[in-house]
Amino acid sequence: MTTFESVLQEARLFAPSSAFMEQSHIQGLEHYKRLYETAKADPDTFWGELAIRELHWFQPWDRVLDWQPPFAKWFVNGKLNVSYNCLDRHLFNSRANKPALIWEGEPGDTRTYTYAELHHDVCRMANVLKDLGVKKGDRVGIYMPMIPEAAIAMLACARIGAPHTVVFGGFSAEALAGRLLDAEAKLVVTADGSWRKDVINPLKIQVDEALADGKVPSVQQVLVVRRTGQPIAMDPERDRWWHEMQPTASPQCPAEPMDSEDPLFILYTSGTTGKPKGVVHTTGGYNLYTHITTKWVFDLQEDDIFWCTADVGWITGHSYIVYGPLSNGTTTVMFEGAPRKSNPGCFWDVVERHGVTIFYTAPTAIRMFMKLGEDLPATRNLSSLRLLGSVGEPINPAAWMWYHRVIGGGRCPIVDTWWQTETGGIMITPLPGAIATKPGSATFPFPGILADVVDMQGNPVPENQGGYLVVTHPWPGMIRNVHGNPERFHRTYWDPIPPKDGHYTYFSGDGARRDEDGYFWIMGRVDDVINVAGHRLGTMEVESALVSHPAVAEAAVVGKPSDIKGEEIVAFVTLEDAYAPSEDLMKALKNHVAKEIGAIARPAEIRFSEALPKTRSGKIIRRFLRAMAAGEAITGDTSTLEDRGVLDQLRGER
Ligand code: PRX
Repeated sequence: MTTFESVLQEARLFAPSSAFMEQSHIQGLEHYKRLYETAKADPDTFWGELAIRELHWFQPWDRVLDWQPPFAKWFVNGKLNVSYNCLDRHLFNSRANKPALIWEGEPGDTRTYTYAELHHDVCRMANVLKDLGVKKGDRVGIYMPMIPEAAIAMLACARIGAPHTVVFGGFSAEALAGRLLDAEAKLVVTADGSWRKDVINPLKIQVDEALADGKVPSVQQVLVVRRTGQPIAMDPERDRWWHEMQPTASPQCPAEPMDSEDPLFILYTSGTTGKPKGVVHTTGGYNLYTHITTKWVFDLQEDDIFWCTADVGWITGHSYIVYGPLSNGTTTVMFEGAPRKSNPGCFWDVVERHGVTIFYTAPTAIRMFMKLGEDLPATRNLSSLRLLGSVGEPINPAAWMWYHRVIGGGRCPIVDTWWQTETGGIMITPLPGAIATKPGSATFPFPGILADVVDMQGNPVPENQGGYLVVTHPWPGMIRNVHGNPERFHRTYWDPIPPKDGHYTYFSGDGARRDEDGYFWIMGRVDDVINVAGHRLGTMEVESALVSHPAVAEAAVVGKPSDIKGEEIVAFVTLEDAYAPSEDLMKALKNHVAKEIGAIARPAEIRFSEALPKTRSGKIIRRFLRAMAAGEAITGDTSTLEDRGVLDQLRGER
């Protein structure tokens, strides 16, 4: 794991090779510094020039930035369409027959769409959505497997100006209903099922359950894509098959001119309190930010084959499978499968089969592959790879080195990219032709990003001292609001650190430090968010799920370090009088959480106890529980505890 000690010892430096540097967009440290300083001195000109150069606008903007903290408007009054930038413009610049999307299904089926073909299908889906009553501004839920139609649905929504809200296919019916309800979705695009580790995940059944009993009254129609082929129930009033509507839908659909600040999508993410938050991203700023970060961080070249292994249900899939790569006219790879017992080497097969040149994955996956051994990658031809990326969690130096040596053959730079659902795109990262990397460090902020490490008052902390990771100037890809809850937007991101010299500070919720060379080292969440295998889960969400079970009186959830997943969930549970601890109950509670939220939230451990450690005012002291879960000694002040006997009891000493 990346601990303070382990990263402090890390002194290895990997400079870009001259060959890599010479072909890259940003060549060498001086180039990066120049760019960074220019952007810092005059951000509006920097972003404005990029927006003109990199995107197509139907109508230019009047002003680059209107900043009424904490509400930002980027490219004010500009008109554009993200689907146009991702598709139409490539048809006129000789990319019409270039593969836009290479897809491989878990059972091994493949499909390739050229830009012209993808454009056709997106237009068809857009027309189908219109036929089903979706209008500009209506929200559309997308609950899909990793199949091309997921990307097609997103782009179709963007084309007609209907903000999408993609819900990860691994989330439960409950979780889906909550998100659809909050977003007031009018229609849901789904599939009969998805392939997940050789079994069918019955998506349509989950949608039926989510919508049952009028639970989500806004949803009027469901568009179903056939994927797994098992029989499913279709409501004649509500449900329509995509394959029945697609052939007669016109492949012409003009892209709606959208205001730069019209919402493009809402994506739900866990926080420290209450329900997941609907993070709102808008059109112009998000399009530019994902476009330029994809281009520079992954150093895109015309013939690259870009594979990001995320699911489109997460921000990484939105920004670096769909919008960023396609806006650049790149070939993007989409893979439905996951490494599993029957095919542990499937990732490397995909790299070999499709000649992937840029590979972007999470440390959890890398650590899992490390455990599986070097034979799997060694028996595949990975020579097409030229650049590797990491995202989602801190990458420990040992995993970094393995990734570099075994997957990258020692020749591929690694970009360790720090960012969040809220930031829209990559924020702190090496630019691979410019910045020498240190294993475990995300290095430096992207040009135009003013990141800092500060104390609770907003004062920068000395070098090598841990503090809060913040951003002190707005950027185009930033979260615009929490859907339907501006007060929560304020409270979560802008209230924790007071404004400094009139500058509002974005609070990321992460801890970090900067070393003597100015490199950023991300130290993980400082709040009650647990990062399990690169997925964010709020402790309170899991606790709410637990207490909704009749046996549970009280629950407290903490993260525990895990070799593979980064963190695992440990739940401390007190039971109602009528229940006694048992293996069966433990299992039942784990399943209950999985059913309420999704399998990713299933606790690794449940510990029953008679009471939880609390302060006199009744607040659970998680610090003690975290130490206990990690098997560490409890240090520090225990005098705030209401009943010190609780600790002995939790340790099993009483
Ligand atoms: O704690 C940080 C961690 O993931 C969180 C964001 O999670 P999410 O919004 O789901 O987005 C994940 C993909 C962008 C952050 O607050 N995180 C993300 N990337 C890194 C990271 N931690 C360390 N190093 C990273 N490269």
